[in-house]
Amino acid sequence: KIIVLDFGSQYNQLITRRLRDFGIYSELLPNDFSIEKIKEMNPKGIIFSGGPNSVYDEGSLKVNPEIFELGIPILGICYGMQLMAHDLGGKVEKADHSEYGRADIDVTDATKLFEKLPAKQTVWMSHGDLVTSVPDGFETLASSPNCPISAMANVAKKFYGIQFHAEVRNSEYGLDILKNFAFNVCGARANWTMDDFIDLEVAKIRKQVGDGKVILGLSGGVDSSVTATLLHKAIGNQLTAIFVDHGLLRKDEAKQVMAALNRDLGVNIIKVDAKKRFLDKLKGVSEPEQKRKIIGKEFIEVFNEEAKKLNGVKFLAQGTLYTDVIESGTKTAQTIKSHHNVGGLPKDLGFELVEPLRKLFKDEVRELGEKLGIPHELVWRQPFPGPGLGIRVIGEITEEKLEIVRETDAILREEIKKAGLEEEVWQYFTVLPGIRSVGVMGDGRTYDYTIGIRAVSSIDGMTADFSKLPWEVLQKVSTRMVDEVDHVNRVVYDITSKPPATIEWE
Ligand code: XMP
Repeated sequence: KIIVLDFGSQYNQLITRRLRDFGIYSELLPNDFSIEKIKEMNPKGIIFSGGPNSVYDEGSLKVNPEIFELGIPILGICYGMQLMAHDLGGKVEKADHSEYGRADIDVTDATKLFEKLPAKQTVWMSHGDLVTSVPDGFETLASSPNCPISAMANVAKKFYGIQFHAEVRNSEYGLDILKNFAFNVCGARANWTMDDFIDLEVAKIRKQVGDGKVILGLSGGVDSSVTATLLHKAIGNQLTAIFVDHGLLRKDEAKQVMAALNRDLGVNIIKVDAKKRFLDKLKGVSEPEQKRKIIGKEFIEVFNEEAKKLNGVKFLAQGTLYTDVIESGTKTAQTIKSHHNVGGLPKDLGFELVEPLRKLFKDEVRELGEKLGIPHELVWRQPFPGPGLGIRVIGEITEEKLEIVRETDAILREEIKKAGLEEEVWQYFTVLPGIRSVGVMGDGRTYDYTIGIRAVSSIDGMTADFSKLPWEVLQKVSTRMVDEVDHVNRVVYDITSKPPATIEWE
């Protein structure tokens, strides 16, 4: 096992995830995790994640220096490298030019970390400070024009530092560098699989809930379906799933989801029609975070009412993923948006949460779903957010606007399916920005709504590229939307990636 200490980077769980992909068990732990406990865990290696701070900031995240006495190999990434340099007597300074994005490095020492890798490679940098002098016993392994010490090592002690983010895909040989650290430097072995994950989680769930009753918020999406199946495997009929129709679902979704889930999962499901209460609560509200919080809270109220009817339910299970957790903000990471099932939850929840997917990414959940025998179509459904169309009608939500999004979304889905692109495009949908513009239809002037089309490719939702949908498909959907959906007179295509945008508009 290799542990990762968390210094607040948005990418920190990606590091643990990469290690799991290599077949190495890995966990993300707080930066101040006790040295005693680390000794007990006896990891093969330790990684310090990146983070938004400078080592000189007041309140910057630190590590207990005893960690350098354990004789365990350490890799510091970005802030993690600066922290290592700072703590061991090197020098860290503000960079003349902050660097964000691609950079080319020259590898000057190809032993260990860069073994068998090219001397010139592209990496992903994102930093304001840099190491300007290595600590005693260290040497420089690589440099770039703006960052002369891009990588450093104390080979004898097995301490390594890289200024760039090897864990993101934009670092050309990033995965190889992490592999070299894990296998060459730490001597870890690849013996962890998704089956181990299932066994481990089933045991954990049984231990947590005992013979208690559990309800689960089921949306029909991949995450909640996988959670339901995993829980069903662990605790059978102690589980009841609640499917809430909050009026923010896609066209015909409630019908389709209920049909598919009843048939395929073998889980006991209750459907609740809560359209009116959600829309009433959202009336007049236009601020995205406020909308998300209202939706999150209302879900919990519905669950509470259903739990009362079932008598003595103590646990609420959710298909929360790591993306939801990190974007909602943690003790060390900033809030990007409050996902309904994390940051959108009320403080006085009234349930104990069961969230077996909390450390996983979307593509891992899909792999897990296939392993659990969930039908392929369900596992590969495109992601759909819990707050649904509520965050695709930008600003205030009205029935009329929901209807427009529902109809245009149905057209987009139909045409993508016809073009055979369903599994190729990771997620695709329409948004109603709420602006109106002037058009001409027949011989008359129109003043109507604009529809935005969003289509992205991604692997885990953490980063995404806008999809290059064929012009013919775009042309077809544009024509159909304006012809078939009342009050739409203009269609635009969103051509931003994530970052800097996010996938959803709110
Ligand atoms: P963003 O918009 O943050 O989205 O780039 C990343 C992925 O997460 C989905 N998403 C959510 N899923 N509850 C969810 O269950 C939420 O509150 C939520 N917000 C965004 C989004 O659709 C995309 O797949």
